[in-house]
Amino acid sequence: MRILVTGGAGFIGSHLIRRLLASAQHQVVNLDALCYSGNLTNLDTISREPGYAFVHGDICDGSLVSSVLRTYRVEGIINCAAETHVDRSILDPGSFARTDVVGTGVLLEESRHAGVKRFLQVSTDEVYGTVESGLSTEEDRVEPRSPYSASKAGADLLVLSYWTTYQFPVVVTRGSNTYGSHQYPEKFIPLFVTNAIDDQLLPLYGDGRYRRDWLAVEDHCAGIELAFFHGKPGAVYNIGGGNERENIAVAEEILSYLGKPKSLLRFVVDRPGHDRRYAVDNGKLRRLGWRPVVSFEEGLRATIQWYREHESWWRPIKSGEFRKYYEQMYGKRLQQAG
Ligand code: TYD
Repeated sequence: MRILVTGGAGFIGSHLIRRLLASAQHQVVNLDALCYSGNLTNLDTISREPGYAFVHGDICDGSLVSSVLRTYRVEGIINCAAETHVDRSILDPGSFARTDVVGTGVLLEESRHAGVKRFLQVSTDEVYGTVESGLSTEEDRVEPRSPYSASKAGADLLVLSYWTTYQFPVVVTRGSNTYGSHQYPEKFIPLFVTNAIDDQLLPLYGDGRYRRDWLAVEDHCAGIELAFFHGKPGAVYNIGGGNERENIAVAEEILSYLGKPKSLLRFVVDRPGHDRRYAVDNGKLRRLGWRPVVSFEEGLRATIQWYREHESWWRPIKSGEFRKYYEQMYGKRLQQAG
């Protein structure tokens, strides 16, 4: 199939493209705006493959999207393009509404007119909002609470409306917290790993007892691929790793693997509106034939090892724009924590 992957220079997008090309059955066009977290070196291993093409551009640009769809005779779209970091959405909510909601709307409209046969929206379990107990199922209401999750929920509803209204064959996947190689070091796991390597403090929000369900990026991409080719049009599929952990336990595991002291941990002022817990029921995707194969311990260790061995990937990031962001987000918090 000729597939357009948007946001393919990002974390999940780049893993997905490598996976799709590995099967040698598909051609992939990557449309990416190369914003702060997009990085074409993520695709170094496949960038010269004949089945791969890269287009630099924004999903909000309708005429560009239309021309890509027609030039490459795109049959299916997997939309990975998004602003994704909750903390940044608190600093700048407008960019999230623009890329995540408006951008998805543009992609939908152009792909409907271009006769695209399948559209998969990569979404997140955060759209369900905080769940104190039990597991979120695909039938649950969306109750997003951050500008990020609200933007993703808006996009999900727009995507699903295209099935109801136009019978445009869409599928939505809602992945849980994803980790692995090539993840921009603003997110919890890569931030803590790279800080710990450098003997920098690890800023744990609030009491550190918030819970997330961790999913290896390889398992996430396998779930997206399965839902894309075999999901029911108009359906939502949760992709949950089934590895629920408290943040503090993950932080301690990182320190222990790197042989660093627990004194690097700092409890800092909490994120506003911080969701206590996410946890999804992944039974629907399991019934389609998916199951996670990477255990959290094994996946976390492999991820830590990757960051250890790829300092040339993350050091330039952490010394660039990221420094300003880090100071704004953590400077005062860490000072207060002493
Ligand atoms: P994050 O990776 O930002 O994902 P999300 O908020 O989308 O789940 O954060 C994962 C968890 O780690 C979340 O409970 C917030 C917490 N966290 C910290 O305690 N300190 C940090 O510096 C970051 C980035 C996250």
